[in-house]
Amino acid sequence: MIELKSARDREKMRRAGRVVAEVLAILRQAAVAGMATRELDAIAEAEIVRRGARPAFKGYHGYPASVCVSINQEVVHGIPGPRRLQPHDLVSLDLGAIVDGFVGDAAISFFIDSPPNPRAAELVRVTEASLYEGIKAFRPGGRLGDISHAVQSLCEAHGFSVVRDYVGHGIGRAMHEEPQVPNFGSPGQGILLRPGLALAIEPMVNLGGWEVEVLSDGWTVVTRDGSLSAHFEHTVFLDENGPEILTRLD
Ligand code: MF3
Ligand code: CO
Repeated sequence: MIELKSARDREKMRRAGRVVAEVLAILRQAAVAGMATRELDAIAEAEIVRRGARPAFKGYHGYPASVCVSINQEVVHGIPGPRRLQPHDLVSLDLGAIVDGFVGDAAISFFIDSPPNPRAAELVRVTEASLYEGIKAFRPGGRLGDISHAVQSLCEAHGFSVVRDYVGHGIGRAMHEEPQVPNFGSPGQGILLRPGLALAIEPMVNLGGWEVEVLSDGWTVVTRDGSLSAHFEHTVFLDENGPEILTRLD
């Protein structure tokens, strides 16, 4: 069942989204070469709690931290630890917060200091652009497949591949609600997009092949061919006029 949100739900989701956006911006600034990834987790948790919110990830199916830090060939769900950020690392940060029973979820990717090469820089640019193409296709009267197709076609036009095994999702009282939001698919297919729908749209895009595997820690997803991977995500609310991005600072 797909739950449509009320105006009151939307207001709470706006607050959760704002916390996620603010804390991600702080983490982005804090992430420098030499820093251990668990220091980022400590900042994430403190800044979420300071805003009267709760980390959405900590304890979720046993996940041990408040933020996911996925570096280079890591796609998603990297666990913060003693590892230190290095110049030219491609870092993806994924963060979730709960306010008044509603969840906000977003992710960003960026380089420490500077990209290692132009193709890596292109991967990050195109992955972010594909998120915005997906959001543009999130419109009343459209179909879910319009979003999937918009993301996939831009990424593949640049020679990148979209991850198949992990997808975006409905979001609200729970972090993961129906429907699933794949980053691949056909326009005109899937459920009707209606006002009141809230989705986390999150392209995960690899420089090489789309295949991924999970490391023995049970969480960290990596590209099978070792190629770089980027991830951007926004929580987005649909009303009669179009999409509102809840996890973006104005
Ligand atoms: N943002 C991720 C998602 O949308 C959530 C991280 S999984 C967790 O699936 F277990 F770390 F919470
Ligand atoms: Co998500």
